Amino acid sequence: MTATQDTYQTAAAAGSAATARFRDSGKLAGGKEVDVERVNRLATRAVKALNDIVLEERVTYDEYNALKAWLIKVGEDGEWPLFLDVWLEHSVEEVATDHREGNKGSIEGPYYVPDAPTSETPMTMPMRENEEGTPLVFKGQLRSTDGSPLSQGKVELWQADAKGLYSQFAEGVPEWNLRGIVIADDNGNFEINTIEPAPYQIPTEGACGQLIAAAGWHAWRPAHLHLKAVADGHELLTAQLYFPGDEHNDDDVASAVKPELMLDLQDDGSGGKVTTYDIVLDPIKK
Ligand code: DHB
Ligand code: FE
Repeated sequence: MTATQDTYQTAAAAGSAATARFRDSGKLAGGKEVDVERVNRLATRAVKALNDIVLEERVTYDEYNALKAWLIKVGEDGEWPLFLDVWLEHSVEEVATDHREGNKGSIEGPYYVPDAPTSETPMTMPMRENEEGTPLVFKGQLRSTDGSPLSQGKVELWQADAKGLYSQFAEGVPEWNLRGIVIADDNGNFEINTIEPAPYQIPTEGACGQLIAAAGWHAWRPAHLHLKAVADGHELLTAQLYFPGDEHNDDDVASAVKPELMLDLQDDGSGGKVTTYDIVLDPIKK
């Protein structure tokens, strides 16, 4: 099989799997009801913003019909989660976390799955025998904003493999591959053995890829580790961590890179890498 065919097959699986996952999360069944005045305000502004573009750009019927066809295709391809998480979630995340004094967060993206295997520190991520990729030790301390260690807090990682594939969203990858939760020790220290993920290309053959090609954009996200950190009485942190030198750190298609999220990697002396990243959580304000 060629690399292109490989990418095609797994990308096709990713869109519909991301839609199914969102449905299973319970958020599709209405989520929380939004106040009528708020819906009125937001929907009015959204419709006005689109009308302003049509009038200012003098949008033609050909362009209008291309838009209609494309929107229909986004749904048919199951790519609404992908589209929204790539081009909109970063702003929602910014609003949701701009009060925080602890660590910066980033988007969750479409590939989170709850209830991953859990173990006490140190943990080795679930992975295949001879999992491809540079070995990586990810360690640090979980603390509160006042500096106190968060004993027994949890750090969860999920990531693509060395081919850029996520388990449960690509065919042929074991169910919990490279998804795991570590419980920190009494001093909030944690250590996770994993591998470096590859840069990731959002699916290119569906509606999102069609837009990217038609607009002359690219589909790349820089290599990243996804992270969630939780501790009693503290706000959940959802973040992504990045690798210095990745050519897409400056032009991430999902606009989800922040300078605070860059890892500092050291050689471990035997071909692998080690990185220390302390995580500071904000106490929940009463
Ligand atoms: C997408 C994939 C990711 O891994 C991510 O972190 C954000 C978005 C996507 O394909 O939409
Ligand atoms: Fe990702």
